[in-house]
Amino acid sequence: MSKSKELIIKHLRNNKGAYLSGAYLSSTLNISRSAVWKNVNELRNYGYLIDAKAGYGYRLESEPDRLESELLLNNNMHYLKTVDSTNLEARRIAEKDEGLECIIVAEEQLKGRGRIGSSWYSPPHSGLWFSMLLRPEFISPAKTTSITLVIAAVLAEFFNGKYTIPAKVKWPNDLLVGNKKIGGILTEIKGESDRIEYLIIGIGLNVNQQLSDFPVELEPLASSLYLQSGRFINRTELLLDLTDELKTACALFFREGFAPFYQLWKKNNATLGRHVTVKYGAKTLNGKAIDIKKDGALLLQDNLGINHIINYGDII
Ligand code: BTN
Repeated sequence: MSKSKELIIKHLRNNKGAYLSGAYLSSTLNISRSAVWKNVNELRNYGYLIDAKAGYGYRLESEPDRLESELLLNNNMHYLKTVDSTNLEARRIAEKDEGLECIIVAEEQLKGRGRIGSSWYSPPHSGLWFSMLLRPEFISPAKTTSITLVIAAVLAEFFNGKYTIPAKVKWPNDLLVGNKKIGGILTEIKGESDRIEYLIIGIGLNVNQQLSDFPVELEPLASSLYLQSGRFINRTELLLDLTDELKTACALFFREGFAPFYQLWKKNNATLGRHVTVKYGAKTLNGKAIDIKKDGALLLQDNLGINHIINYGDII
């Protein structure tokens, strides 16, 4: 780390949570104010949470949060500092190690993947990027949408309960606060028509990002748990808590299907009652989302009043 950055951190630390002006830092370090700003931005990439407020200056909120690899390994998680995508890594493990179930977590993904071929921005130190590799017995590939709904509903309930963040799910896989996305789920399977060989549930959560941490094109669309709660969240603890909840939910889903989660999903959803456009395969359909079926399929009423059951698709 450069000398200027070390000094900025030292001064901010000594200032114990109060704002320090850019002018002060600039004259003490003998660098321009824009160099202070540039260094602060780079420090954020190292994981320092530094708030900037016009007229006040900079304030150190927290030092880097590193995923605690040892704790994760002790809890049977595969921890990687950098990977292309935890979903891809899960697939490689699944192909190599028959029968293994595990959770793969990475500090950073270089090719994080989203739904419908999109990419998922996954820089280090601020978010949680992980995949659960599962091998459920007696589950058909047709259940892929409903497991995604289960995960989304459980995540929303968890954030509402534990952090009083009003998270909602947009059918099938988006986790929103208001109209901003704080997380997403990418479920992938390998299987035959009647049987899943393995299931990979990839989850991406924006945890401690500030608005300026997102690329400009994501700023109007994305948010984080930190931005919504004003609380810095320890990602290792969050991951351990969450994966406990998710494992329990998956076990119940594999035993009893979507039924135990139907009301939970409805309670936490941001889709029903809205006019939406759904893309499924090469087709799109406009209409009002009027309900979900008992298996999680979306019931959409088009502008002519005709009902459609959408088993798989994305609201765009
Ligand atoms: C979406 O909303 O488009 C789904 C995003 C899923 C992102 C997660 S991050 C962990 C896992 N690995 C990936 O490459 N993607 C998922």
